[in-house]
Amino acid sequence: MNHLLKLSDLSSDEIVSILNLADQLKYERKNGIAHPLLAGKTLGMIFQKSSTRTRVSFETGMYQLGGNALFLSSRDLQIGRGEPVQDTARVLSRYLDGIMIRTFEQQEVEDLAKYGSIPIINGLTDYCHPCQVLADLMTIREQKHSFKGLKLAFIGDGNNMANSLIVGGIKMGMEVAIGCPETYQPDPEIMKWASDNGKFTCTPDIFAAAKDADVLYTDVWASMGQEEEFKERCKVFTGYQISDKLMAVAHPDCMVLHCLPAHRGEEITAEVFEAHADEIFEEAENRLHAQKAVLVKLLAEK
Ligand code: CP
Ligand code: NVA
Repeated sequence: MNHLLKLSDLSSDEIVSILNLADQLKYERKNGIAHPLLAGKTLGMIFQKSSTRTRVSFETGMYQLGGNALFLSSRDLQIGRGEPVQDTARVLSRYLDGIMIRTFEQQEVEDLAKYGSIPIINGLTDYCHPCQVLADLMTIREQKHSFKGLKLAFIGDGNNMANSLIVGGIKMGMEVAIGCPETYQPDPEIMKWASDNGKFTCTPDIFAAAKDADVLYTDVWASMGQEEEFKERCKVFTGYQISDKLMAVAHPDCMVLHCLPAHRGEEITAEVFEAHADEIFEEAENRLHAQKAVLVKLLAEK
């Protein structure tokens, strides 16, 4: 593993190995055992979109691992004024030990990896959100102890989250169901891969998708960069909501996860959100532990 660009680049064994290390790092952190595995290393963090969790968990994670993190807003970097990513990659590779980037185009992340000579981590693109899904898988395994026989259902936009959940869920052997409008389906190649490699369905009927689910997951109706489509999306996505009515068709012990930020009253009701707040905020915490595991795998184990 040289980069984390998308989950489909990782084998199932590599994902499990990250989750195992994440569990270990979480245990050590909770028990006051220091793990300065990245002493002297610096991570650059390029943000072309807003972030609370990704920014703070990567920055804190590097600090806890004994290293440093630099927050690099695209507004301040020359990349924001048109310096090519090929040049940025080659320059930053000479200063830093790794780069985390949050941007729009997946190609930009792939190009950073192609032209740079240090590990690149995808902190969210329009296409996928691998760091989030590693934390989600960690949270599911923590609660359910195994992925065996589980059904993961995602309700809402077939967006970056849906794409990564499909790949991560299928790679871990879960059944994955997507409940989304026909015009907002996940990436067709990912859906084809999922159908060929596991138990996968995509339907506009959210009750069919959620039936007997062990994990229900949702995300905002309009992602970052789609703010102008918000009104139109509200019309299409009305009803694509995790509510008590939807929970009633899921497994009685069904978990609810949300990558956050959440819009209560849109993709999830306030009641369901609060009833599952412990799971959702444990999931948010696990961003820290899962990403520390990724950082150690990429930056230390060389
Ligand atoms: N879930 C997530 O990536 O949150 P941020 O946008 O706050 O980083
Ligand atoms: N789909 C959301 C995820 C945020 C973590 C977005 O891209 O804005």
